[in-house]
Amino acid sequence: MNDNLHQLRCFGCGTRIAGAGAQPDFRCSNCGDLFEVEYPGWTQRRGPDRPNPGALKWLWRERRMSGEALDQSGVWRFRELLPILDNFGNAVTLREGNTPLYHLPRAAKVLGIDQLYAKHQGMNPTSSFKDTGMTAALSVASERGFAWVACASTGNTSAAMAAYAARAGLRSLVLIPEGKIAWGKLSQAMDYGAVTCQLKTDFDGCLKILTEIVRTAPIYLLNSVNPYRLEGQKTPAFEIAEAFDWNVPDHIIVPGGNLGNSSALGKGFRELHELGLVARVPRISVVQAEGANPLVRSFAASNGASIEPLEAHTRATAIRIGNPASWRKAASVIRDTHGWCIDVTEAEIAIAKAELGAEGLGCEPASAVTLAGLKKLRAKSLIAASDVVVLVLTGHTLKDADYTIDFHRGALLSTEEVAGHEREIAALRRNAVVVDATPAAVLAAMKDRTA
Ligand code: F0G
Repeated sequence: MNDNLHQLRCFGCGTRIAGAGAQPDFRCSNCGDLFEVEYPGWTQRRGPDRPNPGALKWLWRERRMSGEALDQSGVWRFRELLPILDNFGNAVTLREGNTPLYHLPRAAKVLGIDQLYAKHQGMNPTSSFKDTGMTAALSVASERGFAWVACASTGNTSAAMAAYAARAGLRSLVLIPEGKIAWGKLSQAMDYGAVTCQLKTDFDGCLKILTEIVRTAPIYLLNSVNPYRLEGQKTPAFEIAEAFDWNVPDHIIVPGGNLGNSSALGKGFRELHELGLVARVPRISVVQAEGANPLVRSFAASNGASIEPLEAHTRATAIRIGNPASWRKAASVIRDTHGWCIDVTEAEIAIAKAELGAEGLGCEPASAVTLAGLKKLRAKSLIAASDVVVLVLTGHTLKDADYTIDFHRGALLSTEEVAGHEREIAALRRNAVVVDATPAAVLAAMKDRTA
């Protein structure tokens, strides 16, 4: 199982190529679609040569006790299921993964669901789920001798890439849409030493330009079109399955932007199932913002068979994407697992974020679409009271503090957006009040808030 025997298979036409044989833009030269990493050894091994599920589960858990850097990573402790490096000693790790799975009793009660959990991927080293993918793909870049890595980003990918590149001693180039990413993320890319270019275009425009650049310059592309990113991002599926003692939950809900994450989690659960580590795969649903919902429209028009790019608008800047690269993979995950693809409004996102905050779980607006989506699915009776549901929270609340402060100050949403949600919003808003510097004034303020 440890041999690096992976190959790349085109998701569109099925063409197979060697791992190092991909074009710099990771598009199939035959049909232009994206590749997926595949491990032919797994299916060839039969009988006693098949990996022993019990032994693997034991090994992965044991590694959590180990003092070795690789074992302490929630990605590389599952390295038997991601043999993408010639030498695991080349892995670049910040001890990513091993993120907490929190119970959400209050939201569960309100929704009438027995078991609701949040897998908080914002608790990664650079505070987003991107770290799990970056450790994998940047390790490949480093092993293959690249001096430069690059990504287009709505902020989190660039923060993760810059950090891992800095750890590996590589240079990094970041292309971001000017004025449309949260400051927390931009500050990270700067601090980790990336060459950061703010372009007068959107995310989709940045990715297009970067694709042209990597075709001519020896720069390794680290967007999620890079199939190794998804290998790392599949590991939260393993952690979720492990947390439920390998009885997978009924339903996983993820935000959808460029659609790499939903594709990766789907692949993770599929592989666990194929290898006999779990008995079934969960339903995987994707939630988009209403103003950035190309996949929702695609399902409405063609059940996910084709997609129309659009100009995206949402304050959840992380998922402000109108032309998602991995849409075909994500659509197939949704169809194969019998999940749903739905969208939510700006007010629904802001309310869900504040509700998670009120349970002590801060997250980015893009992550809060999961709870907003769950509320919609439950209202339509598409989720049973007995279902075990896991929301994947993708980023930390401090990534976009401006959004949170604006919400609590009542400056985030327009009157039209608030319409119909006035009471919910009023109950959640907690503005900071200015009071006299006396005990009496502070006690009076407390009384006001609890009245
Ligand atoms: N949530 C957060 C916090 C994100 O940063 C992203 C994507 C998503 C959800 C959507 O995930 O693209 O895999 O469907 N952020 C990218 C970036 C695009 O550049 O940081 P996806």
